[in-house]
Amino acid sequence: MKADWMEGYNAEETYTAKYFRFLNPGYLNMCAITSGLRAIPAEESFTYCELGCGYGLSALMNAASYPQGTFYAIDYNPTQIAYAKSLAKDAELTNIHFLELSFQDIVDNPSLLPQFDFIVFHGIYSWVNNINRDNLVKICNHHLKSGGMVYNSYNVKPGWSITESLQKLMYNLANELPGSTRSKMDRVLSRVESLIDLNEGFFKEQHTSLRNNLKNIKDKDRTYVIQEYINDDWRAFYFPEVYKKMQSAKLEYLGEASIVDKLSKQLQSKKLQSAIEKADLIENRELIKDLAYNTKFRKDLYIRGNYGEINRFEMQEWFLNQRWIRLTPLGEIEKYSFTFSYGKYDVANSELYKCIMDSLAKEVMSGKDILNKCKCKAGMLTEALTLLSHNNYIDIYQELPKESNGINRAIVSRVFDSVNIEYILYPRAARAYKTNRVHQLFLDAIEHGHTKSSDLVDYVYNKFTHYQQSLTVNGKTLVGKELKENLKLFEKVWRKKIFPIWKMAGVV
Ligand SMILES: C[S@@+](CC[C@H](N)C(=O)[O-])C[C@H]1O[C@@H](n2cnc3c(N)ncnc32)[C@H](O)[C@@H]1O
Repeated sequence: MKADWMEGYNAEETYTAKYFRFLNPGYLNMCAITSGLRAIPAEESFTYCELGCGYGLSALMNAASYPQGTFYAIDYNPTQIAYAKSLAKDAELTNIHFLELSFQDIVDNPSLLPQFDFIVFHGIYSWVNNINRDNLVKICNHHLKSGGMVYNSYNVKPGWSITESLQKLMYNLANELPGSTRSKMDRVLSRVESLIDLNEGFFKEQHTSLRNNLKNIKDKDRTYVIQEYINDDWRAFYFPEVYKKMQSAKLEYLGEASIVDKLSKQLQSKKLQSAIEKADLIENRELIKDLAYNTKFRKDLYIRGNYGEINRFEMQEWFLNQRWIRLTPLGEIEKYSFTFSYGKYDVANSELYKCIMDSLAKEVMSGKDILNKCKCKAGMLTEALTLLSHNNYIDIYQELPKESNGINRAIVSRVFDSVNIEYILYPRAARAYKTNRVHQLFLDAIEHGHTKSSDLVDYVYNKFTHYQQSLTVNGKTLVGKELKENLKLFEKVWRKKIFPIWKMAGVV
């Protein structure tokens, strides 16, 4: 049952524990650079706050990646904060503060938080009530430093127009039924399905879209569906509404939180480009873009005081001065194709992309060294590095001590916990990367001093057996001998493809 402290938000269940790269301060700074603005100086020290952090996985990974930063992560859900705190303690992270507070608590008592260089809130704005939407903006107004950056993501129309009707239907039908939200979800979904199949009026006009959307909802994680669809104050917005609100905290729109935001605009059709450019106001340009792309979700960046633009040569210089690390195993990329909100872009000069990836196969390299090796223009290299990083094939390298692995030790010691964490930190790439339980257990085995393939396999097998867990591969549940044989195969592939990357990235 919903309680008063939830303020209309559906916190009957805790949320999923996910890591989001776009909440990474290094990534946000790269968004600024690729948008033609100076990055926030973060080499020596900086402050960062995540509002509504859930289980705090992104905040934890960020704190482990940037020891020079001081991180605050806020959520009013005590279970999530207690879990995040225990992970931070096991990881021996001292630069992160998890606080169990509501947004209202912070507005009522601003002395609870300092001033920040970065304030981020992901998956919050559409899901809380109007008072809390105002609170988020008030917190930015009080707690963002001059020159600081804000990230806000939310559901957008027209992309949500059809699904919004399903949201309203599901929410209202759920209210008719007794019991916890999870227990009534099946009944709600089957009633919605039979209504769509009446094939009358709106149900007829939008039948295919509604059916597809419903299928989508059914395939999604229930925890997500409950918080997305069965929420008192859920709303999808048009960009100008949110833009206006953010401006009240002296925030200027910087662009989307994507390193390809500017580049993708240059690559979109000339007709659309000129139609968008005809509009004078930023909010109208973004609105036209959202209508043209049928945008469903936006991740927006704002700055409080634009303290300096950089020209394209300065941007190229920045790319050349970074060191780059490969994150994707050799042989995994068949085609250099990149996806933007409006479609796909297949590169013409794929030899350059191949040269970059091959050069990074065995060592990290600076942009300058790659330029010399692959012999291309700095502008082309900047574009290629941006796109490769956008697809998670490469990232910026940083020196970090081995001790930064505490978060990985904490995660792999909880592989069979009820909270499923499918990531590990790549400390020298300053980010987390998606993985699976078996790979996490290989790391656990290494942390326990095992090195030989057979020992790793035995270690993981014994863990599965001890915790009475099975492994599902291609729909088949593996236990006993079959499990062991499959673990041997997994270890072989992992050692060949993933282990070399883990070594470079400082995981092992
Ligand atoms: C949809 S989840 C997103 C969590 C996380 N940012 C992510 O994307 O995985 C929204 C989070 O906001 C928190 N939340 C909702 N209303 C809040 C409020 N008024 N004060 C503090 N936290 C709140 C919830 O507990 C939940 O963890």
